[in-house]
Amino acid sequence: MKITTAEFIISNSDVSKCPTERLPEYAFIGRSNVGKSSLINMITNHKNLAKTSGKPGKTQLINHFKINSNWFLVDLPGYGYARVSKKTKEVFQEFITDYFETREQLVCAFVLIDIRLEAQKIDIEFIEYLGESEIPFCIVFTKADKISKTKIDSHVAAYKKQLIAHNWEEMPPYFVTSATEGTGKDTLLNYIEEINVE
Ligand code: GTP
Ligand code: MG
Repeated sequence: MKITTAEFIISNSDVSKCPTERLPEYAFIGRSNVGKSSLINMITNHKNLAKTSGKPGKTQLINHFKINSNWFLVDLPGYGYARVSKKTKEVFQEFITDYFETREQLVCAFVLIDIRLEAQKIDIEFIEYLGESEIPFCIVFTKADKISKTKIDSHVAAYKKQLIAHNWEEMPPYFVTSATEGTGKDTLLNYIEEINVE
């Protein structure tokens, strides 16, 4: 699939105010600073469509981007950033879970995982939450440029092992990406196209 248009539509902290147009929607979620906004820019060929930052906690709202006039990409705030106050963190959590529990047009959640790290408790908990809520999801490994190419497979295999250790029978569909090098763009877009027509 080629992306011809990508436009910012609206930011919200209230799920009920998200676009009501019934278009298929794909959401990027993951720990703060994992690269959600950067990946959205990479796959849409924009430098600054989604705002990015070296400091965690940049995206604080639910951001809808309309792609090719017929589907939405959604950039969400990160979870697990300790330096936001507890109260703010709870608000994040609540509207993130509200989003996942009420957005019927959500086709798939993309859970972003930094390829360099071992499975983090908060990611496993979030994956478990998605499983319990029966929300289809994939795993997107980010920042693949930060490890040598020869290590990618072993990092993915280690992650898979850790998921299985947490009672996941199998690894969900997964992608290896780098926002700085453009890795994984076509595979990710083709997957979105594939599940869109199912
Ligand atoms: P929050 O909105 O705070 O939750 O963060 P985010 O997940 O949206 O991360 P963001 O895209 O803002 O990126 C965080 C930092 O990681 C920025 O400094 C990016 O430049 C960097 N980054 C993101 N993706 C990549 C990547 O693929 N490779 C490298 N080397 N750096 C990346
Ligand atoms: Mg962000």
